[in-house]
Amino acid sequence: MASVELQNIDKSYGSFEAIGGLNLNIDDGSFTVFVGPSGCGKSTLLRMIAGLEKITGGDLKINGRRMNEADPIERGVAMVFQNYALYPHMTVEQNIGFSLRMAGMAKDEIARSVAAAAATLQIEPLMKRKPAQLSGGQRQRVAIGRAIVRNPEVFLFDEPLSNLDAELRVSMRVEIAKLHRRIGATMIYVTHDQTEAMTLADKIVVMRSGKIEQMGTPDMLYADPDNLFVAGFIGSPRMNFLEGTLGADGLVRLDCGASFRPDLMHAGGRDVPVKVGIRPEHFTGQEGAGGAIEVKVDVVENLGGTRFIYGTLSSGQPVIVEDRSETSRRPGETVTAAFPARKALLFGADGQRIRDTQPANAIPAE
Ligand SMILES: Nc1ncnc2c1ncn2[C@@H]1O[C@H](COP(=O)(O)OP(=O)(O)O)[C@@H](O)[C@H]1O
Ligand SMILES: [Mg+2]
Repeated sequence: MASVELQNIDKSYGSFEAIGGLNLNIDDGSFTVFVGPSGCGKSTLLRMIAGLEKITGGDLKINGRRMNEADPIERGVAMVFQNYALYPHMTVEQNIGFSLRMAGMAKDEIARSVAAAAATLQIEPLMKRKPAQLSGGQRQRVAIGRAIVRNPEVFLFDEPLSNLDAELRVSMRVEIAKLHRRIGATMIYVTHDQTEAMTLADKIVVMRSGKIEQMGTPDMLYADPDNLFVAGFIGSPRMNFLEGTLGADGLVRLDCGASFRPDLMHAGGRDVPVKVGIRPEHFTGQEGAGGAIEVKVDVVENLGGTRFIYGTLSSGQPVIVEDRSETSRRPGETVTAAFPARKALLFGADGQRIRDTQPANAIPAE
């Protein structure tokens, strides 16, 4: 196991800055997930930790030792790629043992390590097959096996499940979580799938354009996002952002006509435009302390245990409401969706969260 520190890390490709001044501490034995849209720099960051990409500026430390110029082997890391990168002419057994043979390990010792990895991943019956004779999920297990035998202190996964079908992705996700629990190594995992991030991570790092937008536990990012980007990225279906105004009187007036008193101590001063973030699952049947919106039902997605209403507000804005009631809803019908004030998050025109400590609409001193 090992800790990983990124201190003021930069990466430029010519004049293009892919990563800018990034700081991050990854705890020994933790499971950290980088998420963010395609092109935000996730792979670049992982490849710099692996030693596959030169670091333009800043310090990479593994277990406190600066590793910027160290060979990939010296770093004690092993990487698993999205496309598996197996040798097609070798059997599963040879693929898994390859790095050990290269390192000159004794034959019987290699056999023992390979067998142990195969047992962990439950691929013993496949040992004599070639990659072409394996399913996508089996190939990905072999790729993970190849990382395991190197006994790394840090595992790096770059979208390892993206090429698998939905069902297999879910079961492999559970396998990876179990693997982490069993071997306890530090794991750094890249994905663009927020569900994968939410279910695997101790800590999620949300990235955009080579910078960290926010990091924290899955629960923290879900409940307390710093800005619209993080709020919209985490959670499925996505958080609703209702247009409105935070008034001088401390009330929020939504463009669709509803109003409510937000869960802020210091709101008030002058009118400012806001977006009100409410997750589909935070609407309730009854009105309570909070607000309520009238939603015209367009489509009902029935998942059996729960339903999602895809509807429209009187302002024309689309909205998604989770409906756990027994009543069935029909397209064209109007339903009242109430929400508690403490679940309604306010965001200012700059996209940043309006928190109590910084009254967004305080009247500036002359
Ligand atoms: N070898 C390269 N040369 C130039 N630009 C690159 C190179 N590799 C990546 N980039 C750019 O750096 C940015 C981050 O890429 P990447 O780390 O692959 O993103 P992600 O993995 O988050 O999708 C992208 O804009 C990409 O086009
Ligand atoms: Mg990538």
